[in-house]
Amino acid sequence: MKITVSAPGKLMLFGEHAVVYGRPCIVTAVGQRMKITVELTDDSMFQLNAPDVSVINYQKPMSQLGQGNIPKGAKFVEIAVLNFLKKQRIKKGLKITTKSEFNSQFGFGSSSASTVCVIKALSELFGKKLSNKQLFDLAYKTVLDIQGKGSGFDVAATVFGGTLYYITPGKVIESLNIDSLPLIVGYSGLKFDTVTLVNQVSKLAEKYPQVIENVYSQIEKLVEQAKIALVSKDWVTLGELMNFNEGLLSILGVEGKKLADMIYGAREAGAYGAKLSGAGIGDCMIAIATDDTTQAVKAGITKAGGQIIDVETNAEGVKVER
Ligand code: MEV
Repeated sequence: MKITVSAPGKLMLFGEHAVVYGRPCIVTAVGQRMKITVELTDDSMFQLNAPDVSVINYQKPMSQLGQGNIPKGAKFVEIAVLNFLKKQRIKKGLKITTKSEFNSQFGFGSSSASTVCVIKALSELFGKKLSNKQLFDLAYKTVLDIQGKGSGFDVAATVFGGTLYYITPGKVIESLNIDSLPLIVGYSGLKFDTVTLVNQVSKLAEKYPQVIENVYSQIEKLVEQAKIALVSKDWVTLGELMNFNEGLLSILGVEGKKLADMIYGAREAGAYGAKLSGAGIGDCMIAIATDDTTQAVKAGITKAGGQIIDVETNAEGVKVER
């Protein structure tokens, strides 16, 4: 009894941070996938190999799931199993192997993708079919159990795939009908903890409630316009809205010098617009450009110290691999 499930990573297009406070965001699923194989065994042990996050031959009795010191790279998988089983004892053991097509440092959401894969695989193995919304709810709960914070947009992207207009906590998950997106992605090489940055923004909102609420409201307005521009392939408007969004993220204090340099590199080379993607300071930036400026924009980002990552957008959501 063995199954392999894969799920996409994600890239935030518009609305990060404000989405944590009830505003909408737009996220796209990326072609790079997380793959997880789950096997039922007869030895009542939980075994995990996740070499991409340095977890090798981690094992413990199934009865001790969620207890003791859990290595960082094993947390999401282990708690996902615990939440799926709802603490009920099973006689079988589980052997889980994860393999990611993307670097866990990119900010593509490897934790959410592995959580979703594990729950999907277990639901298939135990014949407890879950709808995508039920899968989303359980995976999002798992992420909150571990991180305490987060809008769940990444979980939605990895479950449903495509490009989504999303309002937390899954209040709206709307699939946008797009068939192309001339997106360029640059990786900064820097890593910052998402929850730390979310807390930092929340502190700023405590100190300047009216100013920051106003920033969130402006972000909400531009997300609504970006949704229309995206569907109608109005790349000029989409680029301008990216620039507005970046300005507002800069007010929130999450721009960071390296990302700002890459963003300016892209704009100066002719991009319609560019912004950071995700929590900020590190991870990736995105730019939108025409075919004839693509090479120059990529060069501009590279010159600013970024690494171009080829990314297919609007990718398929979680699925069982045949
Ligand atoms: C992080 O990728 C995006 C944030 O909006 C956090 C979240 O939505 O969970 C900063």
